[in-house]
Amino acid sequence: MTAPVPFIRDAWYAVAASTEVGRALLAREILGQRVVIYRTEAGLPVVLRDRCAHRFAPLSMGERVGDTVECPYHGMRYAPDGACVRVPGQSRIPPVARVTSYATLERYGLVFAWMDETVPADPARLVAIPQVEAPGWAVSRGYLRFAARWTNILDNLVDPAHTGFVHKRTIGSRGSDDVPITATDEHGDVVCRRWVNGEPPVPMMQRFLGHDRPMDRWQVYRLSPPCVSSVDFGAVEAGQPHDDAAMDAAPYRTISYAFLTPETAHTTHYFAFQLRNIAVDDPAVTHEFETLYQATFDEDRVLLEAIEREEMADPDAVPVMLASDAGVARLRRLLAKRGASMTR
Ligand code: FES
Ligand SMILES: [Fe+2]
Repeated sequence: MTAPVPFIRDAWYAVAASTEVGRALLAREILGQRVVIYRTEAGLPVVLRDRCAHRFAPLSMGERVGDTVECPYHGMRYAPDGACVRVPGQSRIPPVARVTSYATLERYGLVFAWMDETVPADPARLVAIPQVEAPGWAVSRGYLRFAARWTNILDNLVDPAHTGFVHKRTIGSRGSDDVPITATDEHGDVVCRRWVNGEPPVPMMQRFLGHDRPMDRWQVYRLSPPCVSSVDFGAVEAGQPHDDAAMDAAPYRTISYAFLTPETAHTTHYFAFQLRNIAVDDPAVTHEFETLYQATFDEDRVLLEAIEREEMADPDAVPVMLASDAGVARLRRLLAKRGASMTR
C-alpha cells in the first residue's frame, strides 16, 4: 500500500539556502514540524521549533530581540538553545519552559538541521563535497517545492531509465536507452552507473568541448540515504581507463546535487546545486545551468506530482517492478534498514 513512509529524523536536512537566512525570522515546515529559522548576531544559524511553550503561538509571528525570539502572544523570550530567558510579569522561569532547538551546520551555501533530538548531531555525517570550494569548479543553484512524497522523488533519483523520456527536452538523450545500468551498494550508498562508449558526446558536451568525435561517457547516480542525491555526468577520450583519476581529469564533467527535505508526508523541499568543470568563470553559463536544471527538475516535479495525486486517490494500488528498478529496490532495502518501511 502507498501510505506515506515515516520520516527518518537522525540526518542532516537542508532547511534553507544560506542567502535566505538572516536576522529576520523565517518560518518553514520540515519533517512535518514547523520551525523558525534565523541568524544570531555572530552569524550562526538557529533552528527552533515554531511553537511557544505557553499557549503554542508560532514564534515566527513574533520578533527577534537580540539573539532571542519573543513570542507574539505574551512576550516570552527564547534563546538560540531553546531555553526561555524571560517571562513578562514573573521573575521565576519554569524549567520546562523551553522549545526544541535543532543542531545546525552551514555548508555548501545551505543551512542544515539535525532533526533528531534523541541522537547526537554528528557533522561527519553530512556528505563531503570537496569540489564545492575547490579551484576549477563552478556552482549553480536552484530550489523547487514538490507536491510529492520524498520517497517517490528518491526513487526517481536512482532511476536513470527515466532520463531519456522525461527529460527529452532538456538533458536526456535517447541514444543510451538500451545501455544497461548496474546498481550496487557502496558504503551504504545506492549507486547506479553506466558507461556509454565510443559515442558522440551529447549536444551540451559538444558545445563546451568544441568537437563531436566519439568519446566514452559516464552517468553515475548516487543516493546517500536518506536524502542526498548526486548525478555525475562526464566524458573522457574513447579508450581511456574508466577510473577516478580519468574522471577527475575529464575535459567535461558536471555533478548535480539534490538535498531532499520532506516538508510534510506529501510535499518535499528540493534544494539543488550543480558543479561543473567547464566555463567556470563565466556567469552567463552559471545562469544558463540554473535555467536548464530548473527546467529539468520541473519535468520531474510535474510527473511526480501527478503520481502523488494518483497514489492518494488509490492508496492500495500495487506498482509493477521492472529490471530497471534495481536501484529503487536497493534503495528501499537501505531505507528499511534505517527504519523506514518502503513497502507499498
Ligand atoms: S503563547 Fe507564547 S507567551 Fe503566551
Ligand atoms: Fe529526472
